[in-house]
Order: sequence, then C-alpha cells, then structure tokens
Amino acid sequence: MSKIERIALAYSGGLDTSVIIRWLKENYQAEVIAMIADLGQEEDWSQLESRAYKTGASKVYVEDLREEFVCDFIYPALKANALYESKYLLGTALARPLIAKRLVEIAWENDASALAHGATGKGNDQVRFELTFKVLAPELKIVAPWREWNLRSRQDEIAYAKEHGIEIGLSEEKPYSIDQNLWHTSYEGGILEDPTASPDENMFLMSVSPEKAPDEPSCVEISLEEGIPKKVNDEELSPVELIRHLNLIAGRNGIGRVDLVENRLVGMKSRGVYETPGGTLLYLAHKELESLTLDRETLHYKELISPKYAELIYNGLWYSPLRLAFDAFVDVTQKKVTGSVRLKLYKGNCIIVGRNSPYSLYRQDLATFEEDRVYDQKDAQGFINLFGLPLSVLGRRERLEAKDL
Ligand code: ARG
Repeated sequence: MSKIERIALAYSGGLDTSVIIRWLKENYQAEVIAMIADLGQEEDWSQLESRAYKTGASKVYVEDLREEFVCDFIYPALKANALYESKYLLGTALARPLIAKRLVEIAWENDASALAHGATGKGNDQVRFELTFKVLAPELKIVAPWREWNLRSRQDEIAYAKEHGIEIGLSEEKPYSIDQNLWHTSYEGGILEDPTASPDENMFLMSVSPEKAPDEPSCVEISLEEGIPKKVNDEELSPVELIRHLNLIAGRNGIGRVDLVENRLVGMKSRGVYETPGGTLLYLAHKELESLTLDRETLHYKELISPKYAELIYNGLWYSPLRLAFDAFVDVTQKKVTGSVRLKLYKGNCIIVGRNSPYSLYRQDLATFEEDRVYDQKDAQGFINLFGLPLSVLGRRERLEAKDL
C-alpha cells in the first residue's frame, strides 16, 4: 500500500476528533489537515481552531457553510416534505454530505490522499460521509479510526487523551451524544438508550418544555416563494437569519421536540431525541401552502415520494441520481407554491389558522354549502354511476354467489 502523506479530517472540536488527529499522526505518520464546519452550531470557533493546532493538525480550516446548508440541503428537503419515519426532519443526515463535500475540496486543494472522519462503526454518519467521499472522490482513501483502533469506549479515549497530553474540556464528560446545527439538535446515548426512560429536561438546548412556554399564544406568518421561505411576519430575512429567528420563536413556545425509536441503516433500532423548532414551523407551513396551491393528482403523487426522499437522505444517498431526479420533479411542483401561512404557537403546538396564495386553487364558490351557480348537483349522479360501476358489477356477483350457497 502506498504511503499516505496527508489526511483531510472532518474535525468537530470534540474529544473524538481531537484524539483522532493525534492517532492519525501516530499511526499513519501523516500530516493532518483539519476542517471544522460551521453549520450554525454554538461554538467558539477560534478556540476550536487553536485546539486543533495544539493537538497536532498542520493546517486548520474553519468553514462557514451555513448558507449553503440552508439553501442547497435544507430547502430541497423542505420542498420535498422529507420526514424520516414520519418524525425526523433529518438535521444530521442533511449536514453530513455537505461536510464531506467541502472536505473533499480541501483534500484536493492540499494534495491529501486520504479523508478521515470521527463517526463510529455503528451509526449512519459513517455511511453518509463515505458514500459522499466515494462518489465525489473515488480516488481518495478513506480512514475511519473508530473502525481501526483499539479504543472501545469514551473511557478508553479519555485515557488515550491523557496519555498523549490532549487537553480535555469539561463538556467532554457529557452524558449524551449530541449533534447540533442550525436546523436541529439531536441527542442519543446515555440514559436515552433505555427507550422507556424520559429525557431529562436539562438536556434540551433549543426549546423550553411546553409547561414552561408562555400562557399566551404567539402568532407568526411565514411567506414562501416557489416553496422557499422568504419572510416572517412580512419581514424579509436571509436564509440563515430566517431559520435562527424561527428557532427562537418556536423554541420559546416549546415546539419541535420529537422522541423516537428509529431504524438505522446499519440494522439496529436506536432511540433518538430531536429538537427542530424552526424547521417544524417551516415543514407545517410549506405543506399547508401546498394543500392550497397544488392540484390533487400532483399533491397525492408527491406524498408518495416524500418518504422515499427522506429515506434516501437518511441513508446517505444525497449525491445520487435518484435525488437529482426527485429534485427535478419537486421543483416543477413548487412553481406555484407561493403565499403565506399563519400559525398560532401555543405550548408545544403549532396550529395552522390561515393560508393565502395568489395561486390558490381553492374556490369558495365551488366549495360552499350555500347556493351556488357554478356547480350543478345533478352532474354528481352520472359521475357516481360511472365511478361506482365496478362496485355495482362486483356487488351483483357477490349477491348471486350468496344465493347459490
Ligand atoms: N440518528 C440520527 C441520524 O442518524 C442522529 C445522529 C446523530 N449523530 C451523532 N453523531 N450524534 O441522523
């Protein structure tokens, strides 16, 4: 095997990837280029950067990927109403291909011949990173330390860190595996591994519990253009600002928490808790506007592909022909998904109270229970006769058979 001179590593600043910097240098005698992705999580970037250098990285990139994350990853998923297993808005799954893509570019820029990540051998994230590596840069080697080294637990890692003089932050003793970005925070592991145990209230970072939410409801209006959120209460906001703003409003009303047992791609079920406050509002508002503006056939067909689209993201197939094909379809459906939706937020609930669009297909004169001039009720008889013809024929046969017995 040819020697690896330089490795590009997706670095988070946590204990795992810090240990990995040192381990890669020791085991591969390679230079490590560390990339930290800013996806909107709360971090002290310069501290992370200096930590990476101190731990042994020869070059460190801090990449602000927030806008790209929203526009090129979150919004396509939103337009498709992607929701994994009817609950999970895919915050982690959407971030991985973007991190991996940027890492590949950095590897190329620096003539690195391998890519490394800190995902364990038991989860989905390794698959998402590596499928992206494979499709974008099949020539690069992949190093997944968790699948190679002998460290088996957090304790092992801490011992390794101490032995190698890697400083350990206080937060390193954290009782959960947390993944945070602009779209969501996810929690797994620790006491959550018991699916009967309820999460500790102190765990949540983006939302209050419904009990702690204000006693008065908050109203919010979200405006979308071609399926993309543009304004909140008539105020135009940048993509990043818009999500941050909605996170605050929804979080303070206790909205966007989900607790689920999900099926991982690698086979096991796992219990996860998520907070996606702003995303929950956007998901509901977008769907509502589609109800108003899409014709029935398109709406129903689109509902069939949503779970498939979500599964594809979950399984790491973002950079795949099927996703591009779905996007082409979805984009055509979004041409008239323009308008606004009014929501009432109250103690963990997001209640739709009104919707409006210049392209509305809703016609009050057709739907009304009052007298109308556009719909002839007599037409319904012929329609029902023909629509029900197969059932009439079947009904006759069943009646005849019943008599035979
Ligand atoms: N189970 C979720 C997913 O597969 C969240 C994963 C969180 N990842 C993490 N490294 N803590 O998308």
